[in-house]
Amino acid sequence: MHAKVVVLGGDGIGPEVTGQAVRVLRTVGERYGQSFEFEPALLGGCAIDATGSALPEATLRLAAAADAVLLGAVGGPRWDNPQAAVRPEQGLLGLRKALGLFANLRPVAVAPALIGASTLKPETLAGVDLLVVRELTGGAYFGPRQEAQLDAAGVETAFDTMIYTRPEIERVVRVAARAAQSRRGKLTSVDKANVLASSRLWRRVATEVVAREFPGLIFDHLLVDAAAMHLIRRPATFDVIVTENLFGDILTDEASMLSGSMGMLPSASVGADLNPFGLPRGLYEPIHGSAPDIAGQGVANPLGAILSAAMLVRHSLGLEDAALAIEQAVAAVLTAGYRTADIAGAAKPDFCLGTEAMGNQVMDALRRKDNV
Ligand code: IPM
Ligand code: MG
Repeated sequence: MHAKVVVLGGDGIGPEVTGQAVRVLRTVGERYGQSFEFEPALLGGCAIDATGSALPEATLRLAAAADAVLLGAVGGPRWDNPQAAVRPEQGLLGLRKALGLFANLRPVAVAPALIGASTLKPETLAGVDLLVVRELTGGAYFGPRQEAQLDAAGVETAFDTMIYTRPEIERVVRVAARAAQSRRGKLTSVDKANVLASSRLWRRVATEVVAREFPGLIFDHLLVDAAAMHLIRRPATFDVIVTENLFGDILTDEASMLSGSMGMLPSASVGADLNPFGLPRGLYEPIHGSAPDIAGQGVANPLGAILSAAMLVRHSLGLEDAALAIEQAVAAVLTAGYRTADIAGAAKPDFCLGTEAMGNQVMDALRRKDNV
């Protein structure tokens, strides 16, 4: 069956890295008999410039009808005025919400070849292979908020509300628990139940869901401050972590440092809606931002976007072999010594590549696999 993928390059380095991910998808498609139709659309700052909206109606319509969506990154200094009524990030948040993508899967593994690229000691990193399942459509990101305004006493005041309902917690805990079942059987729920009411509900509901539906899992809770510490103290002991939206945002930037660079990490956002393949209509994006400082220079690391393409074929098209082939090609390129600047470390100058050259290496590795 033909796969319809909407490509939202977005801003900054977004279009550069998704460009490489699209080339990789075409290449694995040929090998695994999967034809693709790629439809570009606008999201974020570029959409504001072109249409005045960060999430144009046409983009939403295309994304909702696609089998999967591949996204680069949104945002940049051009649109950074926090006072502005329209901001690029609203496009991304609006898209996640409109498509009902409540579970964000962020796997963190350390490529053996990159152990030296992390700021952490090699012995701390050995065996790291974890998955953070971040709740994506609730919490303080979407709760009632008030922009700064003067209160009755004339003091400037603003607030955001971290709000969760039982069904919102149940469904994301289920996604995480199922993932843990298919991995090493260990689930850690992260909250701030010693202070926040929403976290006390989170902890109670998570405990119930796991006890009732997933009694075989090893299950524990961590407070988010302790989780932040244990993520760099004993990262290899984690299997699946499930947490609310804002905690997950912060912990996954931290966790990305285990892999050496933000540029390496992919993500998948899924909900209840299924595509014609009978699989989630997901949104796939590297976790890094638009990196305006290096945009347009052709030096960005495309591996996070390429690994997001691997997640796309796995989760939205059911092509596990194709996903593994992409992941193995990336690993082979790293083992051979090829690096982009962000992970260069002590790489020989000849092995330091730009965005497209790195994409070429991955494609060559995929084709080499073809011949064996
Ligand atoms: C992420 C990003 C987004 C978020 C921003 C760009 C709105 O940091 O995907 O982690 O906070 O969710
Ligand atoms: Mg983030």
